[in-house]
Amino acid sequence: MAEVIIVADEEQAGALGAEAVAALVAWKPDAVLGVATGSTPLPVYRALAARSLDLSRVSAFALDEYVGLPLDAPQSYHSVIAREVTEPLGLDPARVHVPGEGPLEEAGEAYERDLRDAGGVDLQILGIGTDGHIGFNEPGSSLASLTRIKTLTEQTRRDNARFFRSLEEVPIHCITQGLGTILRARHLLLLAFGEGKADALAAAVEGPVSARVPGSVIQLHPRVTVLVDDRAASRLEYADYYRYAYANKPSWQPL
Ligand code: PGA
Repeated sequence: MAEVIIVADEEQAGALGAEAVAALVAWKPDAVLGVATGSTPLPVYRALAARSLDLSRVSAFALDEYVGLPLDAPQSYHSVIAREVTEPLGLDPARVHVPGEGPLEEAGEAYERDLRDAGGVDLQILGIGTDGHIGFNEPGSSLASLTRIKTLTEQTRRDNARFFRSLEEVPIHCITQGLGTILRARHLLLLAFGEGKADALAAAVEGPVSARVPGSVIQLHPRVTVLVDDRAASRLEYADYYRYAYANKPSWQPL
């Protein structure tokens, strides 16, 4: 079962997430981080930037990218990762990877190769979509899928329209690490905040493992930490147990 930690607010989640990264980098200075875009991981990046760690040997792999946007468009995940991760955390741009470069039909396999060559992801930061997606793996995604081109749901396009001038500008296609790719990471750190994520989070953590809720694939992973605020945790049936387990977390046990 995932370790579910119900936190007071996004700031506390950010501090715990940053602590997990700091602990990893302390014993593995050339660790490989899996980085997510969207609003959810920002508190982790902010808390990490404030710690001024030396992350110059760390590599990072983004989960996904739009297809059809110029890579230097402000909404492209190449741009978002540069702005929100690479620059504030002081990563070496040469070690930061975002899918979707080169010929599109080869981009998925090339990304999988790059991930393998880097030794795989040590700590994967994840958000969850209101439709249950992780990365851009929309409902119906194979639980064994690898990096590939996908079609975004209308719900995801609407959710992300806030970053664009209009819904029409939100791309229809994307390239995303697959659920099978995400499962290869050694530690998954899933964050969710706000009422809007409550149903998707409960389905992912406690519902049946199903392609209907791609996030439910985390139940197949041996090491998952879920950081949620009260509102995102509001539909969790075992919330009291998660609070009890965290209150009694052994001091020797890492996050
Ligand atoms: P958000 O997106 O962090 O902007 O809510 C999460 C996701 O779609 O994975």
